[in-house]
Amino acid sequence: MPLTAAVREQAARLRAEIEGHDYLYYVLDQPSIPDSAYDALMRDLVGLEARYPELVTPDSPTQRVGGRPALQFLPVQHDTPMLSLDNAFEDAEVIAFDRRVRERLGVAGSIDYSAEPKLDGIAINLRYEDGRMVRAATRGDGSVGEDVTSNVRTIKTIPLRLRGDTPPSLMEVRGEIFMSRSGFEALNARARGAGDKTFVNPRNAAAGSLRQLDPKLTSTRPLEFFAYGLGEVRGISLPSGHTASLALLRSLGLRVNELCESVQGVDGCLGYFRRMAERRRSLPYDIDGVVYKVDDHRFQAMLGSVSRAPRWAIAHKFPAEEALTLVEGVEFQVGRTGAITPVARLKPVFVGGVTVSNATLHNFDELARKDVRPGDTVAVRRAGDVIPEIVAVVLDKRPEKSRAVHVPRQCPACGSDIIRADGEVVARCSGGLVCSAQRKQALRHFASRRAMNIDGLGEKLIDQLVDAGLVANAADLYRLQPDQVAALERMGEKSATKLVSAISGSRSTTLERFLFALGIPGVGEATASALAQHFQGIDPLLSATEESLQKIEDVGPAIAGAVHAFFAQPHNQEVIAEMRRLGICWPDQTERPKPANQPLAGKTLVVTGTLTGMTRDQAQERIREAGGRVASSVSASTSYLICGENPGSKVALAKGLGVPVLTEAEFLALVNDDKAGQNEI
Ligand code: IVH
Repeated sequence: MPLTAAVREQAARLRAEIEGHDYLYYVLDQPSIPDSAYDALMRDLVGLEARYPELVTPDSPTQRVGGRPALQFLPVQHDTPMLSLDNAFEDAEVIAFDRRVRERLGVAGSIDYSAEPKLDGIAINLRYEDGRMVRAATRGDGSVGEDVTSNVRTIKTIPLRLRGDTPPSLMEVRGEIFMSRSGFEALNARARGAGDKTFVNPRNAAAGSLRQLDPKLTSTRPLEFFAYGLGEVRGISLPSGHTASLALLRSLGLRVNELCESVQGVDGCLGYFRRMAERRRSLPYDIDGVVYKVDDHRFQAMLGSVSRAPRWAIAHKFPAEEALTLVEGVEFQVGRTGAITPVARLKPVFVGGVTVSNATLHNFDELARKDVRPGDTVAVRRAGDVIPEIVAVVLDKRPEKSRAVHVPRQCPACGSDIIRADGEVVARCSGGLVCSAQRKQALRHFASRRAMNIDGLGEKLIDQLVDAGLVANAADLYRLQPDQVAALERMGEKSATKLVSAISGSRSTTLERFLFALGIPGVGEATASALAQHFQGIDPLLSATEESLQKIEDVGPAIAGAVHAFFAQPHNQEVIAEMRRLGICWPDQTERPKPANQPLAGKTLVVTGTLTGMTRDQAQERIREAGGRVASSVSASTSYLICGENPGSKVALAKGLGVPVLTEAEFLALVNDDKAGQNEI
């Protein structure tokens, strides 16, 4: 039967009906038809789409089960950064927050806040273009996240299309993906039955499920979603406050937590906190606190943000959980700058959602103050991502004849003297580059996700590489050959090649990540980013004076001194020069393509089939360089489909939707091969 207008209409009707029921069931929690009737509608739509594949659109409810497995998650730039929140643990900190807000705004009376449960899950940005969900990305470091669209499509509480006839041309919805406690228990029961590994807590289960490369697997995981805010929005005028925005989100079919409340002043906030603390255990999901947000959008704009957190919101965390356990020993760890940290080895205990077997004692003074001894029973505390801590020793349970811990004078790793400068709390190993423990820690930091993000280069492997004498500094990583790695214990040829290729892939980075990766004392991500923006390259930084460094916002004398000292060290200069020679590069900040060089600005492109002159990755890179956005599937909002050899069904779909189809040559002509600046440093 040919594809007639009547068939199209029938498909559209079925979709609208199914979406309506999804909304009632998943968002409003008020199903209006029996499951069997819903299944019948779905079967009809699947049948129709099987007969007429041209009818399939990425946002059809049939497409939730998931497309093909991905090889990796592509990076996504958040044009409106995804911010984080400052934390308050005590009422006094909330009172101080409210005072700061009122002082900055010059408001004498009380402020209206939106008070919301703080779910412990994964932050996500959902991008809707003309009402259709075209992309879902994780928060990542706040400015670059990962494209997890195929996985997010499988989450039934997330609408693939917004409700209503006149959707905004662009709307970024922000919220939390999480797993309920019962969903988590059921998933673990299933895993145990199948002899698979179980997850430690619902948050890890949600994160692991979202980061599955195969969306079909994600579709079997009980993930849920609550929207709590907006990113970029175009094509509608926004309500004047946050509570009204939440209502707008609800009216567009998004699931918003019903426990969000509008409260007045700091008393309203603290009252809400107490009520939520009482209800916490009876909720079907974990919350680790509540969030207060200044409701008025104008006030939010006036308050702005510092570093990565807005001044208009704060998370008020529930007190951390505590548990008792036994101290099996106290050891001394060497950090990447040589700082010696006493660490208590504990009998494993489940607290704050994870099993804890180590707790930090911070420094020698803290060890002396708490007088933690092997054999002691101690109270351990853990909250959120914070490192577990020993709160106190239960002295009644101290065994007779226990002895205070002896503080070492020599580094446990290299035997160099431990030095404690006058007035400093931190004691350090004086071994510097001689100390393998310092080298290992520095390499761990260098390879970590937020630094060079070298997949697979974990603690054990770094220990092996350093112990085998293959790697002494970060530059050595880029000289590693697969056969050298393969010769290490527990390494095969395949995993060695994978590692070397991951190291190689990390060559192309950003200046801020590279600066952060160097591990300069005191230079976290925010400072690294400020340095990158200010100096726009590594050469000016190498020769920067302490005075010029201090002119940068948030860089005080201590950090300026540390940065200057770091770059003045001949050894550091050599390693940096070596890494430049070995091809570590980032887009030249001074040669950012001007808008005129961005012929694809505002355009969304899809690549299909095999290209002849470049790989698909290279084509996608070109699109991004030219200001365009890469999508994985064709929809009405696709600007062009680039078509190589042996394309699949995308071409028919593009033609059906009136999306222009370009050959590889036409694409190149469009982006005019005047390549914009990746600069070798
Ligand atoms: S608002 C600019 N609201 O908490 C505001 N965040 O610690 C940014 N979270 O990354 C976030 N519930 O993943 C906001 N009702 C809520 C939230 C919430 C959970 C998470 C979110 C964020 C993290 C910040």
